[in-house]
Amino acid sequence: MKIGFAKPEQPLCGAMIVGVWEEAMPTPTARRLDEATGGAIMRALSATPRFKGKKDELLPIVAPANLPVSRIVLAGLGKPDLVDAQLFQRLGGNLVAHLNSAGEREATVAVDVGEGAPIDQTEAAAQLAFGAQLRAYRFDRYKTNQKPEQRASLDRLTVATAAPAAAQRAYEPLDKTASAVFFARDLVSEPSNVIYPETLAAQAATLAGLGVSVEILDENKIRELGMNALLGVAQGSARPPRVVIMEWHGSRDKHAPPLAFIGKGVTFDTGGISIKPAAGMGEMKWDMAGSAVVIGLMQLLAARKAKVNAVGVVGLVENMPSGTAQRPGDIVTSMSGQTIEVLNTDAEGRLVLADALWYCRDRYKPRLMIDLATLTGAVVVALGHHRAGLFSNNDELADQLIAAGKAVGEEVWRLPLDESYDREIDSDAADMKNIGSDRAAGSILGAQFVQRFVHDVTWAHFDIAGVAWSSKDAPTVPKGATAFGVRLLDQFVAQHYERE
Ligand code: BES
Ligand code: MN
Ligand code: ZN
Repeated sequence: MKIGFAKPEQPLCGAMIVGVWEEAMPTPTARRLDEATGGAIMRALSATPRFKGKKDELLPIVAPANLPVSRIVLAGLGKPDLVDAQLFQRLGGNLVAHLNSAGEREATVAVDVGEGAPIDQTEAAAQLAFGAQLRAYRFDRYKTNQKPEQRASLDRLTVATAAPAAAQRAYEPLDKTASAVFFARDLVSEPSNVIYPETLAAQAATLAGLGVSVEILDENKIRELGMNALLGVAQGSARPPRVVIMEWHGSRDKHAPPLAFIGKGVTFDTGGISIKPAAGMGEMKWDMAGSAVVIGLMQLLAARKAKVNAVGVVGLVENMPSGTAQRPGDIVTSMSGQTIEVLNTDAEGRLVLADALWYCRDRYKPRLMIDLATLTGAVVVALGHHRAGLFSNNDELADQLIAAGKAVGEEVWRLPLDESYDREIDSDAADMKNIGSDRAAGSILGAQFVQRFVHDVTWAHFDIAGVAWSSKDAPTVPKGATAFGVRLLDQFVAQHYERE
């Protein structure tokens, strides 16, 4: 789908979209269109009392008289003084879905922003285009036999606005964000016979083209470093593990300590010897979503030349049962020197993070570390698919991340950490065990485990098991891989770490 900006002009074909404010108040553009169509808009509004012009509402008027357009779509904007970036993003996304299901090929959106609105026309136009772009994402590379009606029909969306060149400029960084989000979504969507540690590392290596320095640690190097917790997870698989380190130096001081982002990259999680049930196991191809988000974020920071030093570290393994697999009860010595009794080989993400975090802390002395992981099924029980779990040892950082999530529509909810939970993972045989003694507080115990490899570094952990993949379409996220976290962390970096 091509997206462009143009001066308002009556389109000669395709669909035309105009705004309606709450209480069915047509915007000036809608009023003009009403005149041009001999009152079609006002008639449609009074014939459809349930359309109130609230946000997210759409009302199609098919084949209006006196105009060459195929349809007019009235788009609810809610209260004129409450319109914001997210409203326009959602509108763009909803329109893409609506127009595709109607089979429209071209569309022109002319959405007025009232005077005194909290967002200006130019920014609104760019945000609408961004939302449309995000929703238009498809992963259909393996669909060889799609019927025309299964394909996206919409191939051109024009946003009509008074200053198209300015809107295009405002859209440029958002377009980069969409590309990074799509990169991450692609990595998460690919099956595990295509994306495994070596190939995921190779994808990360493409960031070199943007000026990111990428280092790939192979199995020997990983062993030399003593990352035995990570290696224990990998040892049942025919696919060798990788650890990838991506450095972006965008600060004026290239040696200033970086922000660090760490991702769980289990390219497939069978559970290992503590094997998972067959039903739904295919979902575990996206157990590397944390690492995909880190890779996508690093791509974005480099693409937009963020004025920050950042490092991404991803631990890539495949968790398989086999004759060489780790056994429940095995004790491994992590890179930190702390020993771990592996009582359940399916609690593997924390083992990977343990060594990745320790390595990161040890090598970079980062200003802060933020990890992302599809860590526990328990976080899905707690928060469902609407919010990621957030854990942190720093209130200010937690608040900043919560606010960043709100700003971009990736919501998170903070859960507690403390000593009484921490004691639950003490082991009789080693320094710690990788599960608690029952299913209580599963996500918190996972986070407590991870925290043992962070020490005094300012740190936050996102448990994204519930939000990395969605089974339902949302306005700016079609069902499938979401890339949850790319936008949140980019916003966080821009807001707090680029004002030198
Ligand atoms: N990758 C899973 C967590 C997961 C579950 C992600 C559902 C996405 C959807 C993780 O490695 C895992 O298996 N966790 C176990 C931990 C338990 C053994 C303590 C779990 O949640 O059951
Ligand atoms: Mn697991
Ligand atoms: Zn896992």
